Amino acid sequence: MDLSFLPTVNAFLNGLTGALLLVGYFFIRKGNRSIHKRVMLTAFSTSILFLISYLYYHAHVGSIPFKGTGVARPVYFTILVSHSILAAVIVPMAIVTLSRALSSRFDKHKKLARWTLPIWLYVSVTGVTVYVMLYHL
Ligand code: HEM
Repeated sequence: MDLSFLPTVNAFLNGLTGALLLVGYFFIRKGNRSIHKRVMLTAFSTSILFLISYLYYHAHVGSIPFKGTGVARPVYFTILVSHSILAAVIVPMAIVTLSRALSSRFDKHKKLARWTLPIWLYVSVTGVTVYVMLYHL
């Protein structure tokens, strides 16, 4: 089966997650808790979909070597390593942030969420960056 469309789907899900996180933040800053909740739960869902699709793709295709040369190489690998480390960190962070909110421990939720949000945004944006550099340079 031809899976070459999946990296584009994955990058789209990454970008969508980043956009949803920004929208969710915008709504909590405006004091709208119910839209904040819905948008953040949607961001969590698009991340899960991404993770499933990403793991499926790489289980079937393996790893893709970076073809860029010169300065693009250290730039790419710096982004890739920081992205990968923080992608592993964000999974438990997002789950704990979410569980604190869903159990109405909002003080604790807010404290952790101020770290979770920027890290999650960084992972989403660098996910799209890695995709563009790997498949379109
Ligand atoms: C993992 C996904 C989520 C992230 C990243 C997130 C992010 C944030 C952030 C950054 C704040 C602090 C805003 C500020 O600086 O004033 C916040 C506050 C808040 N969030 Fe979330 N949120 C998430 C999920 C949820 C969910 C599912 C709910 C509802 C069940 C929720 C309810 C709230 C409430 C009520 C506040 C205000 C807390 C207060 O000001 O005391 N959040 N959230």
